[in-house]
Amino acid sequence: MSESSTGGSYGKAGFTRRRFIIGTAGVSAVAALGGTVVRAPRAVASGAPSGPPTTTLPLPTTTKPEQLLLTWGGDPATEVTVSWSAPGTVAQPAPTLAFSAQPITAHNPGRLVKMPDPKPLDVTQRYGEAASVSFTDGLNGQTTYFYHVQLKGLKPGTRYYYQVTDGASEPSTAGSSFETAPSGRAKFRFSSYGDLATPSWDLNTSGNIWHESCDNSWYAVTAIENPGDGKGAPLFHLLNGDLCYANLDVDNAPGVWRDFGNNVARSAANRPWMPALGNHECEFGTDTISGHPGKAAGGIAAQGAAGNYWNGPYGFGHYLSRFLLPDNGVTNWDGNRLRGNFYAFQVGTVTFISLDADDVIYQDGAANYVIDTANTPPETTTTGASIPNGTTTYTRFYTGGLKPDAKNNSLVPDYASGQPNLQTIWLERTLARARRDPSVDMIVVFMHQCAMSTSVPGNGSDLGIRQAWLPLFDKYEVDLVLSGHEHDYERTYPVRGYDTGAHGTVAAPNPGQTKGAAVDTRRPSVAATEPHDFNGTPAWNTAEGTVYLVLGGGGTNGPTNTYGTDAADDKPQAKVITTRNAVVGSEAAGFVKNGADSIEDAPWSAAINPTDAYGYSIFDVDPGRHRGETTITFQYFAIPAVTNEAGSAHDGTTTLPTQPTEKFVFGRRVGRR
Ligand SMILES: [Fe+2]
Ligand SMILES: [Fe+2]
Repeated sequence: MSESSTGGSYGKAGFTRRRFIIGTAGVSAVAALGGTVVRAPRAVASGAPSGPPTTTLPLPTTTKPEQLLLTWGGDPATEVTVSWSAPGTVAQPAPTLAFSAQPITAHNPGRLVKMPDPKPLDVTQRYGEAASVSFTDGLNGQTTYFYHVQLKGLKPGTRYYYQVTDGASEPSTAGSSFETAPSGRAKFRFSSYGDLATPSWDLNTSGNIWHESCDNSWYAVTAIENPGDGKGAPLFHLLNGDLCYANLDVDNAPGVWRDFGNNVARSAANRPWMPALGNHECEFGTDTISGHPGKAAGGIAAQGAAGNYWNGPYGFGHYLSRFLLPDNGVTNWDGNRLRGNFYAFQVGTVTFISLDADDVIYQDGAANYVIDTANTPPETTTTGASIPNGTTTYTRFYTGGLKPDAKNNSLVPDYASGQPNLQTIWLERTLARARRDPSVDMIVVFMHQCAMSTSVPGNGSDLGIRQAWLPLFDKYEVDLVLSGHEHDYERTYPVRGYDTGAHGTVAAPNPGQTKGAAVDTRRPSVAATEPHDFNGTPAWNTAEGTVYLVLGGGGTNGPTNTYGTDAADDKPQAKVITTRNAVVGSEAAGFVKNGADSIEDAPWSAAINPTDAYGYSIFDVDPGRHRGETTITFQYFAIPAVTNEAGSAHDGTTTLPTQPTEKFVFGRRVGRR
């Protein structure tokens, strides 16, 4: 993907900035404390493959259950969904799940759930208690199998044991245990990052390297099972989109997803992992945008040219097959149920909301075949499916339209069109309900793309999120917004409302723009720049303003932790995407995808980490004693990039820190007398 040149003096080292630059001190402190070096097992002794495969590799034909994955049901205190997969292209003969509040043994076989025969993914249908789903990848033709059991009526705060079996004549089993969420006002811990990718060949089940493979992905999962402060694994994890980048391996997407599934299962078998959709979950295939098989004359090879270049509904076929997430009850205008695309759940005194920002962002999708060489032939996979040059996925407004509201440069559901944006309507309803609910003190939103980021090599800040959702985050006083997308760390000051007027300048014009023109970037207003004190820990009052955290350092091989600075005053500066970063060109001349169009001074940027792109966040929720007293203690643990990753051996090791690089308390009463 081409990045725009946005002027200014981006990423100059050594500048003194008001915002807090973290990293170096934290890491040396860790070294001084003798942080534990976690060494990875070396299962594969042969040499490394030279790079991502360019032909379709076979998947296993065995059926031993793997890729165990837990997610919350609608009520995490009583509902957990257990999911697992077959390794490859053969369905399990007679899969079952057994579960019990006691360990599963010969004497305690538990309650048995038999799985139905698999059916192809069909998001127009409701799921039963047990569902077996197959999905055929549109580009490589491999069919993989996913099994889901929605456990309901569980006891809160209780450990349950489970075991799944393939039902073969010599059955294979796999299992673990999990804890349901506590009921009522209770303490708990959760964790988060986005942009995980897959480990490299020596730590991957398949033994392959994929496009974003990096051994930091392996350590990121290890860290969640054993956080650096020694205070135990979280109750659940939030995974902020860009899960594995399978869309970049058009011949092997199911294989990439398998390696992702087995890596995260080291944690997700033991505690729910709750994802948000990112741009890289949107994949090329041979379906219509609603997920129906393309029927253009000319067979599979002709589908891409006819616009049928989607891998399942909106390109999300693999994601929607693998995850059976809480039901938002929303049916899209095309008849697809939008279960799992966006959803909410409550644990203790906190409501969590997962959003799909693909629906509102200006920036383009991640599945794109955009080559600037003239007369580039279509990208053609081993099945003969072909995608013409200049094709890019773009799902903005896939749940309905938004229209400008000039009075505050916002975007609101376009009822006059007859198809208003359903996700935004659902979001406002969900936020209003949470703020009315006396059992909810704080609201945490997680999504993939960023309303605010000063990363230079990254994507930048997206005006679409600022226009569509920040007015709602302000109105309902959302406390924290977590994202990924940028492969780095950034924290904002609490922000509320926006700075009126044109604070942006067009630096890399898209069609219809003029370089140097002023543009209203709807820049969020800083509400406070000095933290309060909460029992000796710096604290931000999130009733004063929402804090945005970019947590995209899961583990990809493409860190973006170089940050923008205005050369004139050394202050933070950000790229802002205010129009679609269009694909321009022609078949004859080749195509180019533009980057962010504008820049703004970014006084909202409070902390960056130029030293370490990777890391994970731990959040400890304490409900206090009375309504409104909930606090969330946040720790960010930066993880150094693995060594040797760039070499052919791909045998990276790193040191997992025992000290956080940042620690804050967030609460709505902190600093108040
Ligand atoms: Fe990413
Ligand atoms: Fe992304």
